[in-house]
Amino acid sequence: MSIESEAAYLDRVLTMEVGRCTEAAAVAASTMIGRGDKEGADHAAVVALRDAFNKLEIDGTVVIGEGERDEAPMLYIGEKVGSGHGPKVDIALDPLEGTTLTAKAMANALAVVAMAQHGTLLHAPDTYMDKIAIGPGYPKGVVDLDAPVEENILSLAKAKGAPPGEITLCVLDRTRHAPIIAGARKVGARVNMISDGDVAGVFHTTEPATGIDLYVGRGGAPEGVLAAAALRCVGGQMQGRLHFRSDDERERADRAGITDLNRKYDLKELASGDVFFAATGVTNGTMLDGVRWERDLVHTHTIVMRSKTGTVRYIRAHTRRNGGDIL
Ligand code: FBP
Repeated sequence: MSIESEAAYLDRVLTMEVGRCTEAAAVAASTMIGRGDKEGADHAAVVALRDAFNKLEIDGTVVIGEGERDEAPMLYIGEKVGSGHGPKVDIALDPLEGTTLTAKAMANALAVVAMAQHGTLLHAPDTYMDKIAIGPGYPKGVVDLDAPVEENILSLAKAKGAPPGEITLCVLDRTRHAPIIAGARKVGARVNMISDGDVAGVFHTTEPATGIDLYVGRGGAPEGVLAAAALRCVGGQMQGRLHFRSDDERERADRAGITDLNRKYDLKELASGDVFFAATGVTNGTMLDGVRWERDLVHTHTIVMRSKTGTVRYIRAHTRRNGGDIL
């Protein structure tokens, strides 16, 4: 096999392996659904994900993870994962996106991983990011992070060929978003408020069945990069700008190598390389079913995607509780 075809083969194999990793994290997190312990749920997912990564033949570095080394014992930023052999990849991960959703047995908690060639994912610090995203099929620049929400909705409605009343905007239900919600309602749009989980919120813009056209608002910066990685695989537009609340957060950005603190990033600047993305449902959600336990089997539902080919796979796995892949 030539070096090129070997690399292409490894890419294909790795895509599926990433899905295996999110399956493991989701299954572990699912043991904590509804137990009111969000830290415990996150910990279970972290341990399982790290274990799964370390079975892979990769020279991986966590670039978006559980935090900086002094605050996260596992899957911290800069941690090396994998065997140390094989492709050199950067990894963005959120072992449990929606810790509160899991603790309260609410919809749309996910285990999420994006993997890309070294140096191609934005090293977003653990701060906030202002985000705007739409799904595929619209002309470039139809919405803009710096435009008022009313203007974005009217412009999107025009591009969709629908009245503004048929546009649904998704936003995290936070008091900081009151102006966005008021602006959207002023032009007659519907507002879908989510309590947590903006990776899913952004991703839902790409699937017409969700009814969501536009995602707007401030959420975690790491989640912004993960959402961008997902959009790179299926198309769509996204912009983000880091938002800092303290000097400590600005120092985090500095340590991550970010010099222009006010920069507006577009989709390809958030995730520029060939990206693999996988997410497994922990709790039942709009696009993915949650983990379901049944006698000797554990059922999982995973989406696996690859930006190079644009292939999207939904994988339903039935794993044996004893002696299977996961447990
Ligand atoms: P966790 O999984 O860490 O609980 O984060 C969930 C989340 O809702 C993210 O999806 C979102 O980006 C962020 O928290 C929003 O932060 P905040 O709760 O501070 O508004």
